[in-house]
Amino acid sequence: MTDSVFLRASEVLLQNSVHEKLGQTRKLQQDWLAGKLDLSRDRSLELNAPGIPTNLEFVTPAKLPRRTLHSALGQIAFIHALTHIEFTAINLALDIIARFQDMPRQFYQDWIQVAVEETGHFELLNTRLLSLGSEYGNLPVHNGLWTMATKTAHDVLHRLALVPRMLEARGLDVTPDMINRLLEINDQETAGILEKILQDEIGHVKIGSQWFSYVCKKRGLDPHSTFFDLLKVNAGSQIRKPINHEARKQAGFSEQELNSLDQMTG
Ligand SMILES: [Fe+2]
Ligand SMILES: [Fe+2]
Repeated sequence: MTDSVFLRASEVLLQNSVHEKLGQTRKLQQDWLAGKLDLSRDRSLELNAPGIPTNLEFVTPAKLPRRTLHSALGQIAFIHALTHIEFTAINLALDIIARFQDMPRQFYQDWIQVAVEETGHFELLNTRLLSLGSEYGNLPVHNGLWTMATKTAHDVLHRLALVPRMLEARGLDVTPDMINRLLEINDQETAGILEKILQDEIGHVKIGSQWFSYVCKKRGLDPHSTFFDLLKVNAGSQIRKPINHEARKQAGFSEQELNSLDQMTG
């Protein structure tokens, strides 16, 4: 007797409890690798309200206090914001599995792996918060990252272009500077966590690039113009300097794409 991977991913997506979501994401991968999950489609899944801790307070980005990293509270707020990004990234990986049910088997295997790695990132950062006397949920967060999930819910091509290849790729651009700023305040520990996350995120963007190319090919679309058309409409302030050429190259960006990104950022 097997279970639908779509149903299971949606159940984990809706889970509010952090502890349960982490455990169930790992169990999802174990069951997948053990052949206990199948690809039977389920179009009735309710995916519009991903599970998040019920104590989490949401505010608009403008309402989040601006703090410098050079204060204990600023350091905690910075790590807390990253912890929320990783929590949202778990939900994003579960959502892409449950929502887009017409992709090849390997697509689901890849995004299950991403979901599990995001649980690892979340745990590393939350453990760091605990060591600094805080934890996930203690500070307000903003939900900008999830907005893009909603915006791209109608089409896997849009999702792949704008979540892994735009937002996660932006993470590759800005993480080296974050690491430097952490080293400036002698926070080697968090800097080390971000080094590890950066390596994994190159893999996530690469998976996004591979599947984006796959969908373009299947639909007879030119990947370069399709990607940049979507970026132009949706990027807002997401495309600006610096562009991390080396990391993006490893993550499947072509020379032509990097040149176009350079042109966009002047
Ligand atoms: Fe991550
Ligand atoms: Fe990621």
